[in-house]
Amino acid sequence: MTFARITGTGSDLPEKVLTNADIEAMVDTSDQWIRERTGIRQRHIVAPEEATSDLAERAARCALEAADRRVGDIDLIIVATTTPDRVFPSTACLLQQRLGIHGCAAFDIQAVCTGFVYALGVADKFIRCGSARCALVIGAETMSRIIDWTDRSTCVLFGDGAGAVVLEASDEPGVHSSHLHADGHYAHLLHVPRGSSTAPDDVGAVRTFVEMKGNEVFRVATNTLGRIVDETLAANNLNKSDIDWLVPHQANIRIIEATARKLKMSLDNVIITVDRHGNTSAASVPLALDQGVRDGRIKRGDMLLLEAFGGGFTWGSALVTY
Ligand code: COA
Repeated sequence: MTFARITGTGSDLPEKVLTNADIEAMVDTSDQWIRERTGIRQRHIVAPEEATSDLAERAARCALEAADRRVGDIDLIIVATTTPDRVFPSTACLLQQRLGIHGCAAFDIQAVCTGFVYALGVADKFIRCGSARCALVIGAETMSRIIDWTDRSTCVLFGDGAGAVVLEASDEPGVHSSHLHADGHYAHLLHVPRGSSTAPDDVGAVRTFVEMKGNEVFRVATNTLGRIVDETLAANNLNKSDIDWLVPHQANIRIIEATARKLKMSLDNVIITVDRHGNTSAASVPLALDQGVRDGRIKRGDMLLLEAFGGGFTWGSALVTY
């Protein structure tokens, strides 16, 4: 039987750091409010000339190096992003060109903050059924481009970045299972209200931004992530104590703490980056994963629970032996 195994991780963060103090100078907020309600201290923001594909490329090259693979080994590229460089071609195709790869399948996945977990689940299935042997799976975002920097209820939350993994065919797992869900009933609670097919004629002059009913999102996210922990453990016949590391989506430290409590897990076993990265949407889980691997906390053979929740609503998890 063929499984999919993560053989390398990588990430990239833009150079510019925007602190809570910087945001205090922009909107009516305070460092204390942001830290207490979200756990965020700072976030990284792209330079004017940088695009999502720049971050994706750097994260991808970093993951390839860690996996000791060359670009020519890659036969599938999936980029999870809500902030693609262009309406089309996909950021995955732009990245493929930059890496100098030609011919392999390359496409984007749009599941907002759950995007990387969706992408990992899809790549896992490609590999298990023999359609690919060596995939680049990336979450990359420039959320700063769709944020209204005068709206204090959203602008304090988000940041830019990218994370990547190389996922390869292996005789041993790897990805044990992935669990992907969505419920479009909640679309209005967290969205960018217009896209290519719903724009008015004069849209060229109008920009649209993330809008969110934060406290309602918070409530549904906390309950839903609790349920997906149970679903993932039951599907694999595992107990809470079998999980070595929780690698959660990094939206709010209070949501992360609630999921850790559900797992009866100490925060010492949770990879937390929200304080430094903010919410980087599809990039947050692979960024946290790469952080945990590179600082030596996550070791080969450890059992990881990856989970995320985002606009759609979408939510998902993956159980992975690293
Ligand atoms: N600084 C200061 N005050 C702020 C603020 C800010 N940046 N943003 C909102 N407030 C104010 C509100 O105006 C409100 O004031 P009021 O009581 O006078 O009306 C008050 O703080 C409470 O607002 P509320 O939205 O109820 O706060 P909250 O405790 O729910 O925290 C979030 C807000 C956004 C941090 C929290 O709801 C959250 O994290 N939600 C989930 C977000 C998320 O996960 N999104 C992405 C999913 S992937």
